[in-house]
Amino acid sequence: MSKRLRCGVIGVGMGQGHIKGYQSHPGAEMVAVADVNPERLKTVADTFGVANRYTDALAMLKREKLDVVSIATPNTFHMPLALAAFKAGCHVLCEKPMAMNAQQGARMVVAAKQARRRLMIDFSYRFTEQASALKRQVDTGILGEVYFARSVWHRRRGLPGFGGWFGVKKLSGGGPLIDLGVHRLDLALWLMGYPEPEWVMGGAWSPIGSRLAREEKKAFDCEDLACGMIRFKNGAMLELEASWAANIAERELMETRLLGTKAGLVQRNRNEGYDFEAEIYLERDGAQYDMKLHPPVKGVPSAYHHFIDSILSGKPHLAPGEEGLIVMRILDAIYASAARKRPIRIG
Ligand SMILES: NC(=O)c1ccc[n+]([C@@H]2O[C@H](COP(=O)([O-])OP(=O)(O)OC[C@H]3O[C@@H](n4cnc5c(N)ncnc54)[C@H](O)[C@@H]3O)[C@@H](O)[C@H]2O)c1
Repeated sequence: MSKRLRCGVIGVGMGQGHIKGYQSHPGAEMVAVADVNPERLKTVADTFGVANRYTDALAMLKREKLDVVSIATPNTFHMPLALAAFKAGCHVLCEKPMAMNAQQGARMVVAAKQARRRLMIDFSYRFTEQASALKRQVDTGILGEVYFARSVWHRRRGLPGFGGWFGVKKLSGGGPLIDLGVHRLDLALWLMGYPEPEWVMGGAWSPIGSRLAREEKKAFDCEDLACGMIRFKNGAMLELEASWAANIAERELMETRLLGTKAGLVQRNRNEGYDFEAEIYLERDGAQYDMKLHPPVKGVPSAYHHFIDSILSGKPHLAPGEEGLIVMRILDAIYASAARKRPIRIG
């Protein structure tokens, strides 16, 4: 491979996954990391052997002449850092949610176009063997017309970094809907072929999170459960649910179902953990069949490898900013509908 892409990572929590991803790709060179927390920066940079480290991401962008930048900071910094990265001539792989809201997301999409650079959102759950295998099946037309979908991610008790930025709206943009629901919304939309949304009806509550925050004297002003019913222009509907705290049996419950005229599918987590299973249910000649994916299937590249591969080959990448923006518009509408207690038209 002739050219290796010079990569930088901003934010070294989830950013560690990005560092590993770039370090394991022969076409990428992991050049520099940035984080405002100097101790964490040093620990992570030492662990991964990254020589160039910055507590100021803008200084890194100025000095390192990077080709690719990953943004894995609290959500409030995604847009300003992405705009700075495009200005510095970089392609951007941005963590989910792409921004605090659709307005910010739109600015990122425009900036990427103006800079003629790529913007990909790390919708990492697409890059599992199960999701990828299901997508290949869906693309054959096996489901017929998809008319209903339901996509959920619930936790019994799982408020991330309770008291930290995740639960503070001005830093995160919202609670489990924008944090977990964003993944399940993208996965369902991707499998459905990203139909155009028209109406959204949403609700959001915080009975458990708010009580715990009061008891434990933690900062928290987000919902702990939200749901949305999305109607698309093609007549299909999608029900979305996400929670950080809910009185349910499962510690962690992720499930995405699509119902079509010829078949239905499910992608869900196994044993309340982070591995998945995929099944398709068919009707053929009046009989019912189950199709179950038996892993391992051929390796599916991670989001990081996919982004590097796409840049080097000049092919389009998955999860472009434009799809991230549709996700943000739906999330905004769910929050607006919950606040105003009425359906919101978005299309
Ligand atoms: N794709 C996924 O599955 C997945 C999983 C976890 C988190 N995330 C996303 O990754 C992002 C980071 O989440 P996290 O769990 O790593 O949070 P975190 O709090 O553990 O890490 C964020 C890091 O960013 C640093 N930081 C804050 N402001 C900064 C700035 N202006 N410049 C540079 N560094 C800065 C912090 O010091 C911290 O080390 C969020 O957007 C989150 O939604 C995605």
